[in-house]
Amino acid sequence: MASITIRNLDDEVKDLLRQLAAENGCSMEEQARAMIRAAVEGRAGQADRIDQIERTLRALIGPERQTTPVSVGSSMPSIRGAFSGKRILLIIGGGIAAYKALDLIRRLRERGASVRVVMTAAAQEFVTTLSVGALSAGHVFTELFDRNDEHDVGHIRLSREADLLVVAPATADLMAKLANGHANDLASTVLLATDKKVLMAPAMNPKMWSHPATRRNRATLQKDGIVFVGPARGEMAESNEAGEGRMAEPLEIVAAVEAMLDEKPKPLAGRRIIVTSGPTHEPIDPVRYIANRSSGKQGHAIAAALAKLGADVRLVSGPVNIADPAGVATTHVETAAAMKDAVESLLPADAAVFVAAVADWRTANAAGEKIKKVAGKGPPVLQMVENPDILGGVGHHSQRPGLVVGFAAETQDLIGNAEAKLKKKGADLIVANDVSHESGIGLSGVMGGDRNKVRIVSRTGVEEWPEMGKDEVAARLAALIAERLQTVVV
Ligand code: CTP
Repeated sequence: MASITIRNLDDEVKDLLRQLAAENGCSMEEQARAMIRAAVEGRAGQADRIDQIERTLRALIGPERQTTPVSVGSSMPSIRGAFSGKRILLIIGGGIAAYKALDLIRRLRERGASVRVVMTAAAQEFVTTLSVGALSAGHVFTELFDRNDEHDVGHIRLSREADLLVVAPATADLMAKLANGHANDLASTVLLATDKKVLMAPAMNPKMWSHPATRRNRATLQKDGIVFVGPARGEMAESNEAGEGRMAEPLEIVAAVEAMLDEKPKPLAGRRIIVTSGPTHEPIDPVRYIANRSSGKQGHAIAAALAKLGADVRLVSGPVNIADPAGVATTHVETAAAMKDAVESLLPADAAVFVAAVADWRTANAAGEKIKKVAGKGPPVLQMVENPDILGGVGHHSQRPGLVVGFAAETQDLIGNAEAKLKKKGADLIVANDVSHESGIGLSGVMGGDRNKVRIVSRTGVEEWPEMGKDEVAARLAALIAERLQTVVV
């Protein structure tokens, strides 16, 4: 942390700091550092005093200087990049994930966007307007009616003067308000009054996310054209809580913003494309299952890349720890059988891309109760049966999409095996990975890793692509699919 020059502070602030430092038995500088840290982390301790200092600082900074970068903001580079000239209105809802909004502001501004921020009352319990104002280099809007605030521009202007609205974190309450047309504070009023595109990054307890009311609200909002990014699965801030509900990471939100601001031509507009991704989990009993190491990174990246080209992407994902790609309608499944049903219910489609690492076998009879160790009986014997071949089924389906793409991870005879799968499964293209040790990436490198090296096997030949990041493989494959679909008669 940069050094703090206490003597440069105003007397009133110095007095407050001195008082608190004396109470806590530390130096004024240590006290200031602790308070800045607490404010940034959104900790509640000494909140009143922090607010008191914040208000004093605001008064001292004055209206003109608040609109130019101050403190943290002044040292932040304004890289003119992808979002140059774009105006984003960020609405921060009240949740522990609000701290991630600070990094999001930084990431958006780094790319050249200007960021105006609205905070709900609850959001201010988690992060302070001072940190948000410093990072966004502007006034933070919190009140629907504030006649005394010279910055008050009104909810209509806030919406009019933005190219895109981002709600992060989007709480269950904010979602419910917009889904039902409520407007009783600044955030909900701006959301109801806008005709601009809206991106929501939900964050909440998994039980709240899976509640029928929230699911209903999400479906309504999606129908109304609201785009969602996340939430992801994982550990929650509350101890012993895990599941779906973690806010997407700032860079994932930035990627979603990029896709929404992208005005390039969309070669896949009007095309429905099914993508499978991730592993499947095959139950042994209620607490145990058979799985594999697939992370879903490549499949999700392909779904995102196809959506970026304008496709109506339907992703069917096995259990993964990454967020649903923005703007992609995602169905979550556990088993191969459920994945097959979900895929078939999405037919007809223009294309289908099978990236999932589907378990080849499942147990013949998953136990209804947890299998217990019984002294002298030895380990249980699992009887396995083959899972349905989802790609094979769709490749030979009466509603077969015009373009069917499969994947093949092989350790030997890459091209021979890929060509055999192409034929057997009725695919048009097989994306083949050499996952042998000699390839340099290996199976453990591809599964869960960020890089991939593939060959595209079709009836007319084999095309070798250099090793690249999974996002690049996805972008190149999406472009190839767009090109192929233009020549497919539908
Ligand atoms: N696939 C599928 N359903 C299955 C198995 C595989 O849809 N039950 C798809 C995968 O998504 C991938 C392709 O088929 O696109 C090839 O998967 P792979 O595991 O390489 O092939 P398998 O048919 O399982 O053959 P093997 O494991 O014997 O190589």
